[in-house]
Amino acid sequence: MTLRRAGILCLALAANPSAGADEAELAASGAMLFERNCSVCHGDAGGGQAPVFPALAGNDVLADLPLIVGNMHLGVGYMPPFPELSAEEIAALATYIRTSWGNAAGAVTVAEVSLLLEGLDAGAPTRTIWDGVYGSAQAARGRLAYDGQCALCHGRRLNGAAEDPDMQSGPPLARVKFLREWDGRSLAVLFDYTRAAMPLANPGSLSDGQSADIVAYMLSVSGAPPGPEDMGTDREALARITIAAEE
Ligand code: HEC
Ligand code: HEC
Repeated sequence: MTLRRAGILCLALAANPSAGADEAELAASGAMLFERNCSVCHGDAGGGQAPVFPALAGNDVLADLPLIVGNMHLGVGYMPPFPELSAEEIAALATYIRTSWGNAAGAVTVAEVSLLLEGLDAGAPTRTIWDGVYGSAQAARGRLAYDGQCALCHGRRLNGAAEDPDMQSGPPLARVKFLREWDGRSLAVLFDYTRAAMPLANPGSLSDGQSADIVAYMLSVSGAPPGPEDMGTDREALARITIAAEE
């Protein structure tokens, strides 16, 4: 099953909790949501990537439901917010991570999550990367930073062929293969992953502005058009821009 189809299927499951969505169903749709939204940082099996991205397997913090819901809805540190996740989806994700990989913090109901989400913002409309979400001067700045710090592993053409043969090649950062891999994730995930984990030998060294400039350059190489304004660094806003593989 493709990731895209998995995403649609789990939305359908999660949107209909009253139809007997028991713990097993919640956990199953949570597994698909996790793969789509969370595994890039926390790992397929919840192992994380030390020291930047915490493991969720064997993590006592998972007993704290308000913290889990707050992290997902609002973000924290290098974790982006996911304002588009519904109470059903958050309940599914929380159930999955609290009952997988040996964790035994227990299932979570939609009602519990709804209560915790109450009073938080309702959210603005979502745009995609095809709606002109970065500035052309910004992408030009990003290109300079990229050529200096990223091309040696990800390739001057962003195709994942290292410029420096002594360097470990990284995955492609533009065009069809990249867009398919990232389809459906938000720009906040790409932004946070980049500033937390890259460049590989010196993670955390990019400023927020540089990370946004480089992401803008990546989008421009993928063919997404520039718009009137620069992409900002506000993660709540970035979380509302979806990376869509196609226009
Ligand atoms: C861009 C990387 C990234 C993504 C994507 C991401 N997280 Fe996180 N997550 C983090 C980081 C970094 C922290 C630690 C934040 C802090 O406390 O500073 C964290 C913390 C957490 C914690 C608390 C663990 C602890 O020890 O504090 C939970 C639970 C969690 N994430 C769940 C999720 C779920 C569920 C998703 C998907 C909806 C997700 N995360 C997506 C980076 C990420
Ligand atoms: C020393 C080589 C190296 C350098 C320099 C480097 N990267 Fe990477 N990058 C990698 C490798 C290797 C991976 C795959 C990591 C993994 O799968 O854990 C990666 C992964 C990524 C990813 C995730 C791609 C995906 O589809 O999973 C992004 C985004 C990224 N790098 C951006 C950057 C940016 C932006 C820079 C420059 C600021 C940079 N990298 C510099 C080696 C490098």
